[in-house]
Amino acid sequence: MKIVFAAGEAAPYIKTGGLGDVAQALPLALSKEPNVEVMLFLPYYGQIKRNPGVEVEKIAEFDTPLSWRRQYTGLYRVKTKRRKLRVYLIDNEYYFDRGTIYGCEDDGERFAFFSKAILESLLKLGATPDIIHCNDWQTALLPILLHAFYQNELGAAKTVFTIHNIEYQGWTHPYFLGEILGLPNEYDNVLHFRDGLNFMKGAILSCDALTTVSRTYAGELCDPYFAKGMSGIIREHSFKLSGIVNGIDTESNDPKTDPNLPENYDVKTYKAGKAKCKAALQTELGLPLRPDVPLIGTVSRLVSHKGMDIMCDVIEELMRWDVQVAILGTGDQYYENRLMQTASSHPDKFSLNLNFNSGLSSRIYAGSDLYLMPSKSEPCGLSQLLAMHYGTVPVVHEIGGLKDTVIPFNPDTGEGVGFTFKTFWREDLLYALRRALEIYGGSPQNWEKAVKNGMTADVSWGKPAQEYLALYNSLL
Ligand code: GLC
Repeated sequence: MKIVFAAGEAAPYIKTGGLGDVAQALPLALSKEPNVEVMLFLPYYGQIKRNPGVEVEKIAEFDTPLSWRRQYTGLYRVKTKRRKLRVYLIDNEYYFDRGTIYGCEDDGERFAFFSKAILESLLKLGATPDIIHCNDWQTALLPILLHAFYQNELGAAKTVFTIHNIEYQGWTHPYFLGEILGLPNEYDNVLHFRDGLNFMKGAILSCDALTTVSRTYAGELCDPYFAKGMSGIIREHSFKLSGIVNGIDTESNDPKTDPNLPENYDVKTYKAGKAKCKAALQTELGLPLRPDVPLIGTVSRLVSHKGMDIMCDVIEELMRWDVQVAILGTGDQYYENRLMQTASSHPDKFSLNLNFNSGLSSRIYAGSDLYLMPSKSEPCGLSQLLAMHYGTVPVVHEIGGLKDTVIPFNPDTGEGVGFTFKTFWREDLLYALRRALEIYGGSPQNWEKAVKNGMTADVSWGKPAQEYLALYNSLL
């Protein structure tokens, strides 16, 4: 099976969020299956071009038509020994050599170009993919462009569109249809939504299979509270909708080998290992060196849908408890300011790092006892999986992928991996934290069970990759 995987970002080349992790790990996991070959397409951003660690070879040079325009397209391939996973980079400095990868005035045009250039590249390569897997708004125009312009050559390919986050849908002006996409008016109703064109709507209508990154989020996408205006459209297409929960790359995120940790450990040695990591983290963050006090960690974008409103409230309350809190991340000024205020009044309890530092991120996952993740909406969430894998017990809001992956700990049966709350409300989150701390302080055997259950839960890409393959096969 030949699979094309198209995304606006993929680690280790370029990453702004969870999509970048998925677009790294899922193609790799798929390519390890027998008889599967994967071609991953990314824009050749200036940030990748200037990275001396990424060696490339030029494959072709041609023009990509965008309505009346002919846009230069360089097709590069990353030099690698992996025969079954090829990484292709689409070059055009005018579109992709910007200070930022998203957030430009002409993002619509930039990513329309990217989607069309992928299809042109497939023609140049003589490739005949069975599946073209598109992700989020950046590649949401691809299915419609495939139908409109490439039926003769690529018509056998089936398209899968995955929604990683409905918050960002891709909007442009109605004139874009003819002026940039060069599509005839009959396509207007496929893309038109309210007073503009909506890329995601186009993909939802045009794709052969629609997926999202957890089963619960698939249900939530049909609910106006979560779906940012799209619930009606998604409900109409729910016959082709499914949810496949993400995994994490358990090779590069392994507490046994993670080079960022002062001490490596696994499920057998975690007690001593985590104790050392906790002490080192307290020292690094300038918190009192106390093995007994519960350390609560969070690594997150500081934005509303990550639950920052109740997070800020709860942290103020936590300053009255005997706990330590460590937060790492950047985001909206409003939350940064609120957290800074709390941190400056409680330097002995609360460490706030307003930046992104992947070494410290690993050390927070390893050195904390609890991981706090009260997201208002969370399509899948990867942090709770990392936390579990590093032996840190998650406390989460029971929605989206958090509901599917964090099974509540039950002291009677010893099953479960974390603590959850149902209503997005400060008191409910505090109650979940209280229950967690009661077990942490009062019932060490039970705490050990929760930690071990998390560390041994299968959070790898093995099972999800199989589910994607089954889905692809069902389309062929
Ligand atoms: C988005 C979602 C997150 C998900 C990730 C990868 O960032 O917000 O929940 O884990 O995509 O699918």
